[in-house]
Amino acid sequence: MSQSPSLAFEVTERPDRLAEAERNVILANPGFGQKFSDHMALAVWRKGEGWGDARITAYGPLQLEPSAAVLHYAQEIFEGMKAYKHADGSVWTFRPEANAARFARSAHRLALPAMEEEDFLESLRALVKTDLDWVPDSTTGEASLYLRPFMFASEAFLGVRPAAEVTYCLIASPAGSYFSGGLKPVSLWISEHYSRAGIGGTGAAKCGGNYAASLAAQIEAGEHGCDQSVFLDSVEQKYIEELGGMNVFLVYKDGRIVTPELTGSILEGVTRSSILELAKELDLTPEERRISLEEWRTGAESGEITEAFACGTAAVVTPVGRLVWTDGEVRTGPEGEGGEVATKIRESLLDIQTGRAEDTRGWLT
Ligand code: COI
Repeated sequence: MSQSPSLAFEVTERPDRLAEAERNVILANPGFGQKFSDHMALAVWRKGEGWGDARITAYGPLQLEPSAAVLHYAQEIFEGMKAYKHADGSVWTFRPEANAARFARSAHRLALPAMEEEDFLESLRALVKTDLDWVPDSTTGEASLYLRPFMFASEAFLGVRPAAEVTYCLIASPAGSYFSGGLKPVSLWISEHYSRAGIGGTGAAKCGGNYAASLAAQIEAGEHGCDQSVFLDSVEQKYIEELGGMNVFLVYKDGRIVTPELTGSILEGVTRSSILELAKELDLTPEERRISLEEWRTGAESGEITEAFACGTAAVVTPVGRLVWTDGEVRTGPEGEGGEVATKIRESLLDIQTGRAEDTRGWLT
């Protein structure tokens, strides 16, 4: 189980970047990923020495050589979590150990050094404690402080090999709804030309390259009036995998909620696995299996599939309204608002995260 951290993230600099009034304006309407708290956590790993130089310092530009390996070969991973302020003023994160474990798996896949779970958690604790004033009030809506840990090859070297110097950084950003339309159902474009990940690739790791690979499809989605792309498996182009930045579930009229099984090219989302656990107490039957695009199209047309929703830390649970492809589209949820099941799951999850319901599973830290 957990040990004491070996890195001490101590505050080395206390900037006063924003007046309280300005910060409160941001917290009242945070958007997503645009504004950042006063501090960031940093640590550096050097081959032969291990991790060191841990500190909490002022949020600001990083100094990198143009030859830093990450800029050339994308040796990089990241995570996403949220801190919530409950009614009594206490601040909580949701299942950060699961993110620490996935960070370790991603590090392994990208040949980056392991960071001990306790050090990862310590960086979160230290930054959130330092920037407590930046955690929005989560008691009524879904506002939170989004935490973005990442690790990248900072060594100045152009040879293709695992970097001998790696930087860990954690930044924090007040967050509201991920999609600018708020909770309105999103529309999905089926990407027929592009795959997100393939067998033996990096699809199960949370690395920047996967998201870069999703962007051309994201442009296509935008050109067709859609918010996100759905990626299909790269072998048969037949089975749905995930969206550009989130997992996906289909809701069947008999109470099943089905999500693509983990094939090695799908990210194991923490929200995805929490929903699978929560489903039973909501009288739903969770299923993980392959789902063909044809099943989705025909099921939506026949009414067998009543809803679909995207899920992730940033998106929480976002209903899907339309599924669009080159020469057709189908409605895959009620018009104008989320379906009953997506709304119920979203509320249950948010109630736990924001302290409006009891955390019976010990998911909050
Ligand atoms: C998250 O949901 O935290 C993610 O990392 C998705 C991101 C692309 C916004």
